[in-house]
Amino acid sequence: MANQTPVLGVEIRGWGSAFPQESLTNDELIERFGLDSTDEWIKERTGIESRYISGENENVVSLSVEAGHKALEMAGVSRPYLVDKLILATTTSYRKVPGSHPAIHRELGIAGGASSELNTACTGFVTALIDGYRHFPVDGVDRMMVIGADTLSRITDSSDRGTAILFGDGAGAVVLERGRAESGLLGWAEAVDGEAEELLYCELGEQEYIRMDGREVFRRAIKVMTDMGELALDNAGLDVKEIALVVPHQANKRITDYAGKKLGIDEDRIMVSIDKHGNTSSASIPLALVEAINAGRLTHGDKILLVGFGAGMTAAAAVVRW
Ligand code: ACO
Repeated sequence: MANQTPVLGVEIRGWGSAFPQESLTNDELIERFGLDSTDEWIKERTGIESRYISGENENVVSLSVEAGHKALEMAGVSRPYLVDKLILATTTSYRKVPGSHPAIHRELGIAGGASSELNTACTGFVTALIDGYRHFPVDGVDRMMVIGADTLSRITDSSDRGTAILFGDGAGAVVLERGRAESGLLGWAEAVDGEAEELLYCELGEQEYIRMDGREVFRRAIKVMTDMGELALDNAGLDVKEIALVVPHQANKRITDYAGKKLGIDEDRIMVSIDKHGNTSSASIPLALVEAINAGRLTHGDKILLVGFGAGMTAAAAVVRW
């Protein structure tokens, strides 16, 4: 691929997250679904302690709207019609047609702008964020909203201990705006390995659930996260030592630990939020990012690395200067 042109002069000005009302600890989940598992096994093998599960009236639209409102408020956007485009990343749209983005667009009052929706599974938010940045130089937009939202609990077989313990629901949103000259997208990398499609999938249909070869996904995830992280850093012309924080897809803490080691980054520079959320697919990286920002872990000028992987198998990484 030819050299990338960084997208500079664009800042993340607002952010927000949203969760369903109900949070279940490992023990509560085990009891509710009669799973042959233990809190100890789940914590030790995945790092998960609890996750949010959506109720009847909660879905990708309601969660995205809540997260989106918070992001608009934080960015000081009192007239949402000034948002030029919304991109939603999700695998669990509340409708097949026309997806969830028009309803979110309507509910947020982004009257004039456009919206779209993409599905690269758990890689979704990074795919959408890269796309969002690229709209600035190419389309001349001034303001974008990018949302990652999923309700994987809707497509999880609650009796399958191999998947039921992993997934949770939520949404995270960011507002991108023109701003400081040095802020922006410094480098990125995207990939898909269609040969690995059968490792993780969900067929269409009411009674269809996620099927996953957990061990093989685990093995490949470490490699693809490392490869994509290194490629994005290379494209940005940076060394991993210059990265203030890695915000990885929260699929399994052991995956991020191994990938972090292979990337050569200390544990204290890897964001972990899987303990409270589980794997929330497209929402996982924005939720971890929002938690990192709110915890004061980022300051202006910091370079951060976002790395996602998911069904497909898809993978993407983005180096952003805060
Ligand atoms: N509780 C107790 N025991 C369990 C559980 C459970 N929930 N699940 C599996 N086991 C058992 C297995 O049956 C097996 O028992 P055996 O040795 O008697 O056969 C043993 O634990 C080890 O099984 P493994 O599958 O090797 O367990 P592993 O340590 O690999 O953990 C897990 C399984 C957590 C699923 C792990 O493989 C993993 O995280 N994989 C990656 C999954 C992932 O990242 N998916 C999301 C991708 S992103 C997207 O697009 C949605």
